[in-house]
Amino acid sequence: MYASHHSSLLLTLQTVTLIPGDGIGPEISTAVMRIFEAAQVPIQWDERNVTAIQGPGGNWMIPPNTKESMDRNKIGLKGPLKTPVAAGHPSMNLLLRKTFDLYANVRPCMSIEGYKTPYTDVDLVTIRENTEGEYSGIEHVIVDGVVQSIKLITEDASERIAKYAFEYAVNNQRSSVTAVHKANIMRMSDGLFLRKCREAAENYKDIKFTEMYLDTVCLNMVQDPTQFDVLVMPNLYGDILSDLCAGLIGGLGVTPSGNIGTNGVAIFESVHGTAPDIAGADLANPTALLLSAVMMLRHMGLHAHAQRIQTACFNTIQDKRVLTKDLGGNAKCSEFTAAICERVQDLD
Ligand SMILES: NC(=O)c1ccc[n+]([C@@H]2O[C@H](COP(=O)([O-])OP(=O)(O)OC[C@H]3O[C@@H](n4cnc5c(N)ncnc54)[C@H](O)[C@@H]3O)[C@@H](O)[C@H]2O)c1
Repeated sequence: MYASHHSSLLLTLQTVTLIPGDGIGPEISTAVMRIFEAAQVPIQWDERNVTAIQGPGGNWMIPPNTKESMDRNKIGLKGPLKTPVAAGHPSMNLLLRKTFDLYANVRPCMSIEGYKTPYTDVDLVTIRENTEGEYSGIEHVIVDGVVQSIKLITEDASERIAKYAFEYAVNNQRSSVTAVHKANIMRMSDGLFLRKCREAAENYKDIKFTEMYLDTVCLNMVQDPTQFDVLVMPNLYGDILSDLCAGLIGGLGVTPSGNIGTNGVAIFESVHGTAPDIAGADLANPTALLLSAVMMLRHMGLHAHAQRIQTACFNTIQDKRVLTKDLGGNAKCSEFTAAICERVQDLD
């Protein structure tokens, strides 16, 4: 369909696996598809579901045709997935992370002009190691009343996340990487993580490397977040700091994310949930999923399309005439989407 506008793009049409997800997921996915169509992005969607399936051995897994689609296309865009309490199966997000070894969670936090928060000019990226550390899930009772939780740090996982952070900096015109750690207290575990960051830095002389204690980062972050660029850290610190940073720019409703895995797989997603309270009412704000899709385009090297869609989205918000409720307006999701489509076409 897109190729009919630009026949020269026919050859480079790429396929992306789309997992619309639950709750507001289908509505915000439709919004993204409309905007991509308006911007004539040279990709086509391969739509798949993610529900928990139990394999012959009793192991939980994602549907085989979804896995095949991701293995083939490598790139995915995903809406939120509900995790029913007492569902009897692990969270689908966790299953996806395990299935594709999604080791890096990347969250750019950029202030949106016209959407007022206590901070302006925030433009930073948190890169969180997502497979081990404090969340390795190794816990046991030593004796009654005494439990132990293992923080697992490996050379391999530290090396790949450190390397990814510098590669990201190079590919996204970023100038500095800060390793966030507590190696003064956790000398061996964070010490190893830090050492791998220092070693990676040696190979990227054009990127400024700094190391900072987590507590110092927190203090400095709330005083002046504009001093930070790319931050790389172990799992738990990343979980907390990435939400803190999302708060600086207006919360999870406008924060995109990407999950980078092995074998070239990458899944981009909004960080908010399924918003069951407004699902199906055409009230959802598609911004977070749209900005995740913009991240995806940059990851795919489609920088011009990414920039045009991001500009159209930011200009629409800045203009304040057509905004969803959570952004302070009274427009429907479909109306906000149409306003962005119009701007994208004007930017042609
Ligand atoms: N990445 C994911 O797939 C993901 C992340 C978080 C939660 N969840 C799941 O989502 C379900 C609901 O979780 P929750 O209620 O704690 O969090 P939630 O993010 O779904 O909702 C919190 C509040 O924010 C609002 N909100 C969220 N996204 C919005 C958007 N795009 N536009 C407008 N308003 C928005 C909701 O209406 C609600 O009032 C749960 O089943 C949970 O497990 C999934």
